[in-house]
Amino acid sequence: MILMISAIPDPAAVAALAARAEALEWRDGRTTAGPSARGVKRNLQAVMNAPAARALAGEVQGLLAAHPVLRAAALPRRFSHLLISKTQDGGHYGAHIDNAVIKAASGEAMRSDVSFTLFLTPPGDYDGGELVIHSASGTQEIKGEAGAAVLYPSGTLHEVRPVTRGQRIVCVGWIESMVADCAARETLFDLENLRAALRARLPLQSEELLTLDKTISNLLRRWAQP
Ligand code: NI
Repeated sequence: MILMISAIPDPAAVAALAARAEALEWRDGRTTAGPSARGVKRNLQAVMNAPAARALAGEVQGLLAAHPVLRAAALPRRFSHLLISKTQDGGHYGAHIDNAVIKAASGEAMRSDVSFTLFLTPPGDYDGGELVIHSASGTQEIKGEAGAAVLYPSGTLHEVRPVTRGQRIVCVGWIESMVADCAARETLFDLENLRAALRARLPLQSEELLTLDKTISNLLRRWAQP
């Protein structure tokens, strides 16, 4: 499932985050790429252990971790460290697969189940720079509004097209989900959306809603590893 959410709806708040990101110290992105990605990665990445970068990443992660749609779609157990990436002057990130086991923000190893990109730059400020996600059913090209975040399965082949004008600044990160299987996560997300829709129409104690509550709980019991 590929899902776009409005992560930071306030344009002024996104612009402030983008300005703070712009002022960070940058270095060649190849230093943080896994072996398969190193040869295809041409971008800049903020030095994330600097206090200003840590503060920015912490704020963004807090906003994402509290987002109700992200929580329902990704069922997060833990987040990775965030990276802040800047692509310009024809920079790009060729087709690659994200590392399966990465470092959590808390330090231990975690599995990457869901990848996310939070767009900080308005799409009109740059040409190119589409996030392209390849799947069996074709490819999807994504260029989000500033403040939007796209979530996609970490197991998909994906790339970032060359940025031919302006610059594209994004925050990227990974989530380990309580439910490793992406088809199971999608089923639970569909059922949560169904429950929200039915709650607007039926009494909470209706037989239909109680049955749905039971179904969601029992699927979580079957699939979740909290
Ligand atoms: Ni990637």
